[in-house]
Amino acid sequence: MLDIEYTRAVLPVRGALALLVPEDGERPALYRAADEATGGAVSRAVEAAEFSFGKNKSLLLPGPGGGLSRIVLIGLGKAAELDDAAAEAAGSAAFAALKAVSLGAIALDGLPASLGPQAALGAVLSSYRFDRYRTTQKPDERPKLERLTALSPDPEAAASSWAAMKAVAAGAFLTRDLVSEPPNVLTPPVFADRIAELSALGLQVELFTPEQMEALGFGALLAVAMGSEAPARMAVMRWQGAADPKAAPVAFVGKGVTFDSGGISIKPAGGMEDMKWDMAGAGTVVGLMAALARRRAKVNAVGLVGLVENMLSGRAQRPGDVVRTASGQTVEVLNTDAEGRLVLADVLWYAQDRFKPRALIDLATLTGAVIVALGHEHAGLYSNDDALAQRLAEAGLAVGEKLWRMPLGDAYDKALRSDIADMKNIGGRPGGSITAAQFLKRFVGEVPWAHLDIAGTAWASKDAPGVPKGATAFGVRLLDRLVATHYED
Ligand code: BES
Ligand code: MN
Ligand code: ZN
Repeated sequence: MLDIEYTRAVLPVRGALALLVPEDGERPALYRAADEATGGAVSRAVEAAEFSFGKNKSLLLPGPGGGLSRIVLIGLGKAAELDDAAAEAAGSAAFAALKAVSLGAIALDGLPASLGPQAALGAVLSSYRFDRYRTTQKPDERPKLERLTALSPDPEAAASSWAAMKAVAAGAFLTRDLVSEPPNVLTPPVFADRIAELSALGLQVELFTPEQMEALGFGALLAVAMGSEAPARMAVMRWQGAADPKAAPVAFVGKGVTFDSGGISIKPAGGMEDMKWDMAGAGTVVGLMAALARRRAKVNAVGLVGLVENMLSGRAQRPGDVVRTASGQTVEVLNTDAEGRLVLADVLWYAQDRFKPRALIDLATLTGAVIVALGHEHAGLYSNDDALAQRLAEAGLAVGEKLWRMPLGDAYDKALRSDIADMKNIGGRPGGSITAAQFLKRFVGEVPWAHLDIAGTAWASKDAPGVPKGATAFGVRLLDRLVATHYED
């Protein structure tokens, strides 16, 4: 991860310098200092380029003199309109302009003090790469920047608020790493082993084998795993950070299908490789738990992930099978590709039954239908509790991970009626994301519960500020914010 070092806002610095500058008001002190150090090169360039410091606009000055290899001016737009998102986008632009050099600094004195670390976060989050399987990359194809000096008016204050933000960024990176891994590498047992390593952060980790899940009655989760050579796992991660160790935890549950072929109801070949990231819900829960542990959050939290591979074989479950869930309810499996809800049915039931949580939140790449409904801009939000839904929606807006609340209701629930069992696992084409959520609702009892369908937001096909294309870690920042705002001592 890109290392950020906060120091006093003074020149000289060596290497490359990014100056974050609002379009109105007096020019920041470091801007003036850089202009002076370069014998007026900065102001001459601004004038010659007719650069006006508009939001998300930048101007590069190679070899400006004054001991600097380059200066990049990054416009912040109107000072009065600056917010977290604008600061992050500016930090992200700074990283893009500096990444090719080994020595870089970013001047934060054009931002209100509270937004400085936010800009650093934008730079760090956009520095993410997944290079594990590249062996022929030339050195000049890799970013050289490993440490960014943040020139800050109050470096002590910035560094102290940075510690928690860095923990969350590290959590998001862990999620992105897990979600990016190919499905031949990240099988359920390997995923579980990676989770076990997090006990080094102070998380209590329990892993469950198929035999142990059998004893718990996890007939639905195990039915999904039947077609795979890789054995299923469930992982439970606990973070005990509240003053009262007995205080009820917040519980997070993630869908961890390490590859979703569809099973006997096999998916079409085109794009099937995307189904390696069908474990993004689980990856997000793991990254979140790591973030809470790293920043020593004053909360009791528990994360549970159901890890399976959905494959075809002579042992795979069939359309028409009836399975018994941990709750005792039976399910007629009419489509083996509606497997995520089968996994979650058992893990959700277990989570509320064992932990009696204050709130229960699941994340899952559950349906293609949510992408039809909301595209890639919002994740679907379902909840049986208006207050929880509102908290989630607000946290999402605050961190730029947007949620859109979708309806639940008996009329949708009826679509799940089965001729032979308590329910079937599909509700037909209409409202496909909604009927999937109705299915989950049958396994959460009376607990305040929310379901985030992240099928459209877990993976990005193009770069955005702070979110390079690929695994997004959508939900890590959101849920960390939710915990920080509402559930800590
Ligand atoms: N993992 C998929 C959903 C998905 C689709 C995630 C596209 C990300 C991108 C899920 O298991 C699935 O296959 N859902 C089916 C449900 C249907 C069979 C009722 C779907 O959405 O088609
Ligand atoms: Mn599926
Ligand atoms: Zn799936």
